[in-house]
Amino acid sequence: METSEVRADIPLLEKVIYLDAASTTPTPKPVVEAMCDYFYNYNANTGRGAYSLAIKATQKMKEAKQKVANFVNASPEEIVFTKNTTEAINIVANGLSFEKGDSVIVPNIEHHSNFLPWLNLRKKGVNLKVVKTDSSGIVDPYSIENAVDETTRLIAVTHVSNAIGSVQDVHEIGKIAREKDLLYLIDAAQSIGHMKVDISDINADFAAFPGHKGTLGPVGTGFLYCNQKRVSELEPTSLGGGTVLDVSEDDFELETFPARFEGGTGNIAGFIGLGASIDYINRIGLNKIEKHSINLTQELYSSLASIKNVTCYGNPQNIYGIVSFNINNMHPHDVAKILDEIGGICVRSGHHCAIPAIKHIGAYEQGGTVRASVHYYNNFEEIQTLATTVEEIAKTFGA
Ligand code: ALA
Repeated sequence: METSEVRADIPLLEKVIYLDAASTTPTPKPVVEAMCDYFYNYNANTGRGAYSLAIKATQKMKEAKQKVANFVNASPEEIVFTKNTTEAINIVANGLSFEKGDSVIVPNIEHHSNFLPWLNLRKKGVNLKVVKTDSSGIVDPYSIENAVDETTRLIAVTHVSNAIGSVQDVHEIGKIAREKDLLYLIDAAQSIGHMKVDISDINADFAAFPGHKGTLGPVGTGFLYCNQKRVSELEPTSLGGGTVLDVSEDDFELETFPARFEGGTGNIAGFIGLGASIDYINRIGLNKIEKHSINLTQELYSSLASIKNVTCYGNPQNIYGIVSFNINNMHPHDVAKILDEIGGICVRSGHHCAIPAIKHIGAYEQGGTVRASVHYYNNFEEIQTLATTVEEIAKTFGA
Protein backbone atom coordinates (compact mmCIF):
# COMPACT_ATOMS: atom_id res chain seq x y z
CA MET A 1 0.00 0.00 0.00
CA GLU A 2 1.20 3.49 -0.84
CA THR A 3 0.92 6.55 1.43
CA SER A 4 -1.88 7.92 -0.77
CA GLU A 5 -3.92 4.71 -0.30
CA VAL A 6 -3.51 4.88 3.46
CA ARG A 7 -4.53 8.55 3.42
CA ALA A 8 -7.70 7.59 1.56
CA ASP A 9 -8.56 5.31 4.49
CA ILE A 10 -8.22 8.18 7.01
CA PRO A 11 -10.78 10.93 6.26
CA LEU A 12 -9.42 13.08 9.10
CA LEU A 13 -6.33 13.78 7.02
CA GLU A 14 -8.40 15.76 4.50
CA LYS A 15 -9.17 18.30 7.23
CA VAL A 16 -5.87 18.77 9.06
CA ILE A 17 -2.14 18.21 8.86
CA TYR A 18 -1.79 15.61 11.56
CA LEU A 19 1.72 15.53 13.01
CA ASP A 20 1.03 14.02 16.43
CA ALA A 21 1.49 10.27 15.86
CA ALA A 22 3.55 10.02 19.05
CA SER A 23 0.46 10.95 21.02
CA THR A 24 -2.10 8.89 19.14
CA THR A 25 -2.70 8.04 15.49
CA PRO A 26 -5.92 8.44 13.50
CA THR A 27 -7.76 5.16 12.93
CA PRO A 28 -8.04 3.84 9.34
CA LYS A 29 -11.42 2.73 8.02
CA PRO A 30 -10.77 -1.06 8.03
CA VAL A 31 -9.98 -0.82 11.76
CA VAL A 32 -13.13 1.19 12.46
CA GLU A 33 -15.11 -1.29 10.33
CA ALA A 34 -13.79 -4.27 12.31
CA MET A 35 -15.02 -2.60 15.49
CA CYS A 36 -18.38 -1.73 13.90
CA ASP A 37 -18.73 -5.36 12.82
CA TYR A 38 -18.42 -6.36 16.48
CA PHE A 39 -20.95 -3.75 17.63
CA TYR A 40 -23.45 -4.52 14.86
CA ASN A 41 -23.11 -8.27 14.55
CA TYR A 42 -21.73 -10.04 17.62
CA ASN A 43 -21.66 -7.57 20.53
CA ALA A 44 -21.30 -10.02 23.44
CA ASN A 45 -18.93 -10.56 26.32
CA THR A 46 -15.92 -12.84 25.92
CA GLY A 47 -14.92 -15.94 27.90
CA ARG A 48 -18.27 -16.08 29.65
CA GLY A 49 -21.29 -17.05 27.50
CA ALA A 50 -22.15 -20.41 25.91
CA TYR A 51 -24.33 -18.86 23.19
CA SER A 52 -22.99 -18.43 19.66
CA LEU A 53 -22.53 -14.62 19.74
CA ALA A 54 -20.38 -14.91 22.87
CA ILE A 55 -18.39 -17.74 21.31
CA LYS A 56 -17.78 -15.66 18.19
CA ALA A 57 -16.65 -12.63 20.24
CA THR A 58 -14.31 -14.89 22.27
CA GLN A 59 -12.88 -16.39 19.10
CA LYS A 60 -12.28 -12.94 17.55
CA MET A 61 -10.47 -11.75 20.68
CA LYS A 62 -8.34 -14.88 20.58
CA GLU A 63 -7.46 -14.18 16.96
CA ALA A 64 -6.59 -10.57 17.81
CA LYS A 65 -4.26 -11.74 20.56
CA GLN A 66 -2.57 -14.18 18.19
CA LYS A 67 -1.99 -11.36 15.67
CA VAL A 68 -0.50 -9.11 18.34
CA ALA A 69 1.74 -11.93 19.59
CA ASN A 70 2.98 -12.77 16.07
CA PHE A 71 3.70 -9.11 15.45
CA VAL A 72 6.27 -8.97 18.27
CA ASN A 73 7.44 -12.58 17.90
CA ALA A 74 5.88 -13.80 21.15
CA SER A 75 3.27 -16.42 21.96
CA PRO A 76 -0.32 -15.43 22.86
CA GLU A 77 0.21 -17.00 26.29
CA GLU A 78 2.73 -14.21 26.95
CA ILE A 79 0.40 -11.31 26.10
CA VAL A 80 -1.92 -9.44 28.50
CA PHE A 81 -4.33 -6.99 26.90
CA THR A 82 -4.28 -3.64 28.71
CA LYS A 83 -5.83 -0.23 28.21
CA ASN A 84 -2.47 1.38 27.33
CA THR A 85 1.31 1.29 27.83
CA THR A 86 1.06 2.94 31.24
CA GLU A 87 -1.16 0.17 32.59
CA ALA A 88 1.21 -2.47 31.20
CA ILE A 89 4.24 -0.97 33.00
CA ASN A 90 2.30 -0.53 36.23
CA ILE A 91 1.31 -4.23 36.15
CA VAL A 92 5.01 -5.11 36.21
CA ALA A 93 6.14 -2.47 38.72
CA ASN A 94 3.37 -3.38 41.16
CA GLY A 95 3.31 -7.11 40.44
CA LEU A 96 6.97 -7.98 41.06
CA SER A 97 7.94 -8.71 44.66
CA PHE A 98 10.63 -6.13 45.32
CA GLU A 99 12.41 -6.11 48.64
CA LYS A 100 13.68 -3.20 50.68
CA GLY A 101 17.14 -2.23 49.39
CA ASP A 102 16.51 -3.47 45.83
CA SER A 103 17.16 -1.00 43.03
CA VAL A 104 15.86 -0.30 39.55
CA ILE A 105 17.82 1.45 36.78
CA VAL A 106 16.24 3.86 34.28
CA PRO A 107 17.75 6.45 31.91
CA ASN A 108 16.84 10.11 32.57
CA ILE A 109 14.94 10.51 29.28
CA GLU A 110 11.91 8.37 30.17
CA HIS A 111 8.23 9.16 29.77
CA HIS A 112 6.55 9.44 33.19
CA SER A 113 4.96 6.03 32.54
CA ASN A 114 8.36 4.40 32.69
CA PHE A 115 9.56 6.56 35.55
CA LEU A 116 6.83 7.14 38.12
CA PRO A 117 5.86 3.48 38.66
CA TRP A 118 9.51 2.77 39.57
CA LEU A 119 9.98 5.95 41.60
CA ASN A 120 6.83 5.09 43.51
CA LEU A 121 8.49 1.87 44.71
CA ARG A 122 10.39 4.11 47.15
CA LYS A 123 7.45 3.36 49.46
CA LYS A 124 8.71 -0.24 49.57
CA GLY A 125 12.32 0.87 50.12
CA VAL A 126 13.32 0.33 46.47
CA ASN A 127 15.88 2.81 45.11
CA LEU A 128 15.68 4.30 41.64
CA LYS A 129 19.03 4.83 39.95
CA VAL A 130 18.65 7.36 37.14
CA VAL A 131 21.38 7.09 34.50
CA LYS A 132 22.30 10.23 32.60
CA THR A 133 21.92 10.23 28.83
CA ASP A 134 24.15 12.34 26.57
CA SER A 135 23.09 15.76 25.29
CA SER A 136 21.04 14.13 22.53
CA GLY A 137 19.18 11.84 24.92
CA ILE A 138 21.10 8.64 24.17
CA VAL A 139 22.09 6.35 27.00
CA ASP A 140 25.44 4.62 26.70
CA PRO A 141 24.78 0.93 27.50
CA TYR A 142 28.02 0.94 29.47
CA SER A 143 26.69 3.69 31.79
CA ILE A 144 23.87 1.29 32.52
CA GLU A 145 26.34 -1.54 33.09
CA ASN A 146 28.35 0.68 35.43
CA ALA A 147 25.26 1.53 37.44
CA VAL A 148 24.53 -2.15 38.11
CA ASP A 149 25.47 -3.39 41.58
CA GLU A 150 24.39 -6.18 43.90
CA THR A 151 21.10 -4.37 44.70
CA THR A 152 19.96 -4.08 41.06
CA ARG A 153 16.87 -6.13 40.16
CA LEU A 154 15.60 -4.53 36.98
CA ILE A 155 16.57 -2.28 34.07
CA ALA A 156 13.73 -0.33 32.41
CA VAL A 157 14.37 1.53 29.15
CA THR A 158 12.22 3.35 26.63
CA HIS A 159 13.04 2.21 23.10
CA VAL A 160 12.32 5.59 21.42
CA SER A 161 11.98 8.75 23.52
CA ASN A 162 8.54 10.35 23.15
CA ALA A 163 10.07 13.73 24.01
CA ILE A 164 12.84 13.97 21.40
CA GLY A 165 12.75 10.74 19.39
CA SER A 166 16.17 9.45 20.49
CA VAL A 167 16.56 5.70 19.88
CA GLN A 168 18.22 3.55 22.55
CA ASP A 169 20.33 0.50 21.88
CA VAL A 170 17.82 -1.86 23.49
CA HIS A 171 19.60 -4.93 22.08
CA GLU A 172 22.93 -4.08 23.74
CA ILE A 173 21.20 -3.21 27.01
CA GLY A 174 19.33 -6.54 26.75
CA LYS A 175 22.67 -8.36 26.54
CA ILE A 176 23.86 -6.61 29.69
CA ALA A 177 20.65 -7.55 31.49
CA ARG A 178 21.10 -11.23 30.45
CA GLU A 179 24.77 -11.35 31.42
CA LYS A 180 24.02 -9.89 34.83
CA ASP A 181 20.85 -11.94 35.26
CA LEU A 182 18.64 -8.88 35.74
CA LEU A 183 15.03 -8.32 34.83
CA TYR A 184 14.63 -6.18 31.73
CA LEU A 185 11.62 -4.12 30.64
CA ILE A 186 11.30 -2.05 27.50
CA ASP A 187 8.71 0.63 26.86
CA ALA A 188 7.97 0.27 23.16
CA ALA A 189 5.33 3.01 23.03
CA GLN A 190 7.04 4.90 20.21
CA SER A 191 8.57 2.00 18.30
CA ILE A 192 5.83 -0.60 17.81
CA GLY A 193 4.29 -0.28 14.35
CA HIS A 194 6.99 2.19 13.32
CA MET A 195 9.87 -0.30 13.21
CA LYS A 196 10.38 -4.01 13.79
CA VAL A 197 10.18 -4.92 17.48
CA ASP A 198 11.19 -8.56 17.91
CA ILE A 199 10.91 -9.23 21.58
CA SER A 200 12.98 -12.39 21.68
CA ASP A 201 15.76 -10.69 19.73
CA ILE A 202 15.79 -7.81 22.25
CA ASN A 203 15.92 -10.29 25.12
CA ALA A 204 13.33 -8.42 27.18
CA ASP A 205 11.49 -10.05 30.06
CA PHE A 206 8.71 -7.51 29.86
CA ALA A 207 7.63 -5.07 27.18
CA ALA A 208 4.83 -2.52 27.24
CA PHE A 209 2.99 -1.52 24.07
CA PRO A 210 0.23 0.87 23.06
CA GLY A 211 -2.41 -0.13 20.50
CA HIS A 212 -3.29 3.42 19.49
CA LYS A 213 0.02 4.76 18.21
CA GLY A 214 2.30 3.10 15.64
CA THR A 215 0.00 0.14 15.01
CA LEU A 216 -2.88 2.50 14.03
CA GLY A 217 -5.25 0.74 16.44
CA PRO A 218 -7.95 2.37 18.55
CA VAL A 219 -7.46 4.41 21.74
CA GLY A 220 -7.96 2.50 24.98
CA THR A 221 -5.88 -0.48 23.85
CA GLY A 222 -2.39 -1.69 24.65
CA PHE A 223 -0.66 -4.84 25.76
CA LEU A 224 2.01 -6.26 28.00
CA TYR A 225 4.47 -8.94 26.96
CA CYS A 226 5.76 -11.12 29.79
CA ASN A 227 8.31 -13.81 28.99
CA GLN A 228 7.01 -17.29 29.91
CA LYS A 229 9.93 -17.71 32.33
CA ARG A 230 8.82 -14.64 34.31
CA VAL A 231 5.12 -15.36 34.52
CA SER A 232 5.36 -16.89 38.01
CA GLU A 233 7.20 -13.78 39.31
CA LEU A 234 4.29 -11.44 38.62
CA GLU A 235 1.40 -11.17 41.09
CA PRO A 236 -1.86 -9.73 39.78
CA THR A 237 -2.93 -6.60 41.64
CA SER A 238 -6.41 -6.33 40.16
CA LEU A 239 -8.66 -9.32 40.86
CA GLY A 240 -12.23 -10.05 39.80
CA GLY A 241 -14.26 -11.80 37.12
CA GLY A 242 -12.16 -13.98 34.85
CA THR A 243 -9.06 -14.05 37.07
CA VAL A 244 -9.77 -17.20 39.12
CA LEU A 245 -10.36 -20.91 38.61
CA ASP A 246 -12.03 -21.54 41.97
CA VAL A 247 -13.19 -19.54 45.00
CA SER A 248 -14.22 -20.53 48.52
CA GLU A 249 -15.23 -18.24 51.37
CA ASP A 250 -11.66 -18.00 52.57
CA ASP A 251 -9.48 -18.62 49.52
CA PHE A 252 -9.20 -18.60 45.75
CA GLU A 253 -7.20 -20.28 43.04
CA LEU A 254 -5.83 -17.98 40.37
CA GLU A 255 -6.41 -18.53 36.65
CA THR A 256 -3.34 -19.19 34.52
CA PHE A 257 -1.41 -16.33 32.87
CA PRO A 258 -2.55 -14.10 31.13
CA ALA A 259 -6.21 -14.49 32.22
CA ARG A 260 -5.30 -13.75 35.84
CA PHE A 261 -4.26 -10.26 34.68
CA GLU A 262 -7.32 -9.52 32.56
CA GLY A 263 -9.99 -9.09 35.24
CA GLY A 264 -13.42 -7.73 34.31
CA THR A 265 -14.83 -6.95 30.90
CA GLY A 266 -12.19 -5.38 28.71
CA ASN A 267 -12.29 -3.20 25.62
CA ILE A 268 -13.45 -6.08 23.39
CA ALA A 269 -14.24 -3.94 20.32
CA GLY A 270 -10.94 -2.12 20.79
CA PHE A 271 -8.87 -5.30 20.91
CA ILE A 272 -10.63 -6.66 17.83
CA GLY A 273 -9.81 -3.31 16.19
CA LEU A 274 -6.21 -3.70 17.34
CA GLY A 275 -6.05 -7.10 15.61
CA ALA A 276 -7.39 -5.48 12.42
CA SER A 277 -4.82 -2.70 12.73
CA ILE A 278 -2.00 -5.26 12.86
CA ASP A 279 -3.37 -6.77 9.63
CA TYR A 280 -3.39 -3.26 8.17
CA ILE A 281 0.22 -2.55 9.17
CA ASN A 282 1.25 -5.92 7.71
CA ARG A 283 -0.50 -4.99 4.47
CA ILE A 284 1.57 -1.81 4.22
CA GLY A 285 4.74 -3.62 5.33
CA LEU A 286 6.97 -2.58 8.23
CA ASN A 287 9.99 -2.14 5.95
CA LYS A 288 8.11 0.41 3.86
CA ILE A 289 6.88 2.21 6.96
CA GLU A 290 10.37 2.35 8.38
CA LYS A 291 11.93 3.70 5.17
CA HIS A 292 9.26 6.38 4.77
CA SER A 293 9.48 7.42 8.44
CA ILE A 294 13.27 7.75 8.31
CA ASN A 295 13.00 9.99 5.23
CA LEU A 296 10.21 12.08 6.75
CA THR A 297 12.12 12.47 10.02
CA GLN A 298 15.27 13.64 8.25
CA GLU A 299 13.28 16.10 6.16
CA LEU A 300 11.45 17.33 9.25
CA TYR A 301 14.64 17.89 11.21
CA SER A 302 16.64 19.54 8.43
CA SER A 303 13.84 21.85 7.30
CA LEU A 304 13.12 23.02 10.87
CA ALA A 305 16.77 23.28 11.94
CA SER A 306 17.55 25.59 9.01
CA ILE A 307 15.01 28.22 10.16
CA LYS A 308 16.39 31.29 11.93
CA ASN A 309 15.46 31.44 15.64
CA VAL A 310 14.47 27.76 15.73
CA THR A 311 16.23 25.22 17.98
CA CYS A 312 15.86 21.49 17.26
CA TYR A 313 16.65 18.87 19.92
CA GLY A 314 18.35 15.50 19.62
CA ASN A 315 20.89 14.14 17.19
CA PRO A 316 19.40 13.93 13.66
CA GLN A 317 21.45 10.75 13.07
CA ASN A 318 19.71 9.03 15.94
CA ILE A 319 16.10 10.12 16.11
CA TYR A 320 13.09 8.33 14.73
CA GLY A 321 9.66 9.65 13.82
CA ILE A 322 9.78 12.58 16.24
CA VAL A 323 11.32 16.06 16.06
CA SER A 324 11.16 18.37 19.07
CA PHE A 325 11.87 22.04 18.53
CA ASN A 326 11.31 25.53 19.85
CA ILE A 327 11.03 28.99 18.40
CA ASN A 328 13.38 31.03 20.59
CA ASN A 329 11.55 33.17 23.13
CA MET A 330 8.13 31.66 22.39
CA HIS A 331 6.18 29.36 24.64
CA PRO A 332 5.64 26.02 22.85
CA HIS A 333 1.87 26.13 23.52
CA ASP A 334 1.68 29.49 21.72
CA VAL A 335 3.51 28.05 18.73
CA ALA A 336 1.23 25.00 18.65
CA LYS A 337 -1.89 27.16 18.89
CA ILE A 338 -0.79 29.40 16.04
CA LEU A 339 0.15 26.38 13.90
CA ASP A 340 -3.35 25.05 14.42
CA GLU A 341 -5.08 28.37 13.82
CA ILE A 342 -3.26 29.42 10.68
CA GLY A 343 -2.26 26.08 9.19
CA GLY A 344 -4.63 23.45 10.62
CA ILE A 345 -1.46 21.72 11.84
CA CYS A 346 -1.73 19.39 14.86
CA VAL A 347 1.44 19.05 16.94
CA ARG A 348 1.94 18.42 20.64
CA SER A 349 3.54 21.04 22.88
CA GLY A 350 4.70 21.23 26.49
CA HIS A 351 6.51 18.64 28.62
CA HIS A 352 5.12 15.60 26.81
CA CYS A 353 4.64 13.79 30.15
CA ALA A 354 8.44 13.54 30.35
CA ILE A 355 9.56 16.34 32.68
CA PRO A 356 12.98 14.78 33.53
CA ALA A 357 13.70 14.51 29.78
CA ILE A 358 12.65 18.11 29.14
CA LYS A 359 14.84 19.29 32.02
CA HIS A 360 17.75 17.27 30.63
CA ILE A 361 17.58 18.94 27.21
CA GLY A 362 17.31 22.38 28.85
CA ALA A 363 13.79 23.20 27.63
CA TYR A 364 12.02 23.25 30.99
CA GLU A 365 12.15 27.01 31.56
CA GLN A 366 10.69 27.61 28.12
CA GLY A 367 7.72 25.38 28.99
CA GLY A 368 8.93 22.31 27.07
CA THR A 369 9.07 21.91 23.31
CA VAL A 370 6.88 21.77 20.23
CA ARG A 371 6.85 18.20 18.96
CA ALA A 372 6.06 17.03 15.44
CA SER A 373 5.74 13.28 14.94
CA VAL A 374 5.02 11.27 11.82
CA HIS A 375 3.69 8.00 10.48
CA TYR A 376 3.36 6.39 7.08
CA TYR A 377 0.23 8.44 6.26
CA ASN A 378 2.23 11.71 6.34
CA ASN A 379 3.75 13.10 3.16
CA PHE A 380 6.53 15.54 2.29
CA GLU A 381 4.13 18.37 1.37
CA GLU A 382 2.87 18.34 4.95
CA ILE A 383 6.41 18.62 6.30
CA GLN A 384 7.07 21.53 3.96
CA THR A 385 3.86 23.29 5.06
CA LEU A 386 4.89 22.86 8.69
CA ALA A 387 8.35 24.31 7.99
CA THR A 388 6.98 27.28 6.03
CA THR A 389 4.44 28.04 8.74
CA VAL A 390 7.04 27.75 11.51
CA GLU A 391 9.27 30.11 9.55
CA GLU A 392 6.45 32.64 9.26
CA ILE A 393 5.76 32.44 13.01
CA ALA A 394 9.47 32.71 13.86
CA LYS A 395 9.80 35.78 11.62
CA THR A 396 6.83 37.48 13.21
CA PHE A 397 7.27 36.54 16.89
CA GLY A 398 10.66 34.86 17.40
CA ALA A 399 13.83 36.54 18.59
N1 ALA B 1 2.69 9.39 25.44
C1 ALA B 1 1.99 10.17 24.51
C2 ALA B 1 2.80 11.33 24.00
O1 ALA B 1 3.99 11.32 24.09
C3 ALA B 1 0.63 10.55 24.95
O2 ALA B 1 2.24 12.27 23.48
